[in-house]
Amino acid sequence: MLRPFPFETPIAPDALIDRREELHRLSQAAAERVHVRLAGPRRFGKTSLLLAHAEGLRGVGWRTVHVDMYGVTSLAEVCVRIATSYARLKDNRLRAHLDSLGGRLGLSLTPAGPGITLGPRQRVPSPEATQTAAAELLDLPLTLHERDKIPTLVVFDEFQDLLSAGPGLDGLLRSHVQYHADAAVYIYAGSQPSLMRKLFSDRERPLYGQAEPLELGPLPADEVLVELTERFEELGEDPAGVLSPLVGVAAGHPQRTMLLAHLLHRELAARQLGSTTLPEGGEVEGIAFADAVVRRALATTHEAHQGVWDQMSAGKKAVLAALADHDSPTGTTTARRFETSRATLQSALRDLAREGQHVTRDEGPSGAGPWRYVDPLLELWVRSRGRPL
Ligand SMILES: Nc1ncnc2c1ncn2[C@@H]1O[C@H](COP(=O)(O)OP(=O)(O)O)[C@@H](O)[C@H]1O
Ligand SMILES: [Mg+2]
Repeated sequence: MLRPFPFETPIAPDALIDRREELHRLSQAAAERVHVRLAGPRRFGKTSLLLAHAEGLRGVGWRTVHVDMYGVTSLAEVCVRIATSYARLKDNRLRAHLDSLGGRLGLSLTPAGPGITLGPRQRVPSPEATQTAAAELLDLPLTLHERDKIPTLVVFDEFQDLLSAGPGLDGLLRSHVQYHADAAVYIYAGSQPSLMRKLFSDRERPLYGQAEPLELGPLPADEVLVELTERFEELGEDPAGVLSPLVGVAAGHPQRTMLLAHLLHRELAARQLGSTTLPEGGEVEGIAFADAVVRRALATTHEAHQGVWDQMSAGKKAVLAALADHDSPTGTTTARRFETSRATLQSALRDLAREGQHVTRDEGPSGAGPWRYVDPLLELWVRSRGRPL
């Protein structure tokens, strides 16, 4: 086990904690050929979940493609992303088809992996050629289904970035997808709730009502604790008294959970060799140990938090600071403390909530719960900004 607690890239299906219900819903949707839009904050495990789902479907004979739309800026680039995803299927006939399509476009559609872009020596295809290629690529599930009757799962990951690739692309997509009936099922995954809503919940948009929503929330604390305890046991390490408070700090945020577990594991492994990774030294135990691990984590995430903070308006900073201090984000005390008006705070909170990146709240049967941070480490950073922890 090279990295028993992976925290950087999407993780292998067998490393997933929980998500059983989500996987069940996704496989049901596939069986019924219902399209799904999967929304959740960044690093909540959308890609990992979808990789596990795809693996499951391949096991029952499906073809699966995973198209990452992250950062696309043009339809030609969308074409390259789709083509490279299909090229990974290792289907020679399909590969030849893609090569000839690429030849017509003057683009390289070979599977050089994600991140492939239009190289400097490639000519920019004409808009008509790109449109034709896009149509062919979008209809591939249909073409392939006619050939072998195998259905395709098409995942469009970071789907909201399609909005930056050009106007009307959601319309283009819909005009093809709607005829794919038995041939394909689509999952649109996105990490910017506001943009995803714009694409799917606005009556004016072509994809309105075209996919069932599935929200990816935090991981359940008890499942996390049981699973991580087992993993530490397999490693021959004893995290007693430290793991539980760390799982509490992570508050179900999947990536933060794994980051903290990783740092704890690193320290425990160092201690077995008579060394330490903590400035506090290898003697700290219990809560003090957990605190030291959290500080270690904040040292790695500090720059990212600072980047987030620096982008915020004064109103948003006030709301975030109040929330981090467990004050009412739009109350009179907060308004007075930050020398602003309650109206400004209310509008800032509305914006933060709409964007859905940093604050959220649970919708229960008895109404909405209190606002809280999506990322518990950002909360700690904001609480302690400018002060040593
Ligand atoms: N179900 C899970 N169990 C354990 N860790 C998870 C899970 N989901 C996500 N993670 C952690 O979060 C990180 C980011 O996951 P990823 O699938 O890339 O998220 P997203 O696609 O939502 O940005 C992973 O590296 C892993 O550490
Ligand atoms: Mg992802």
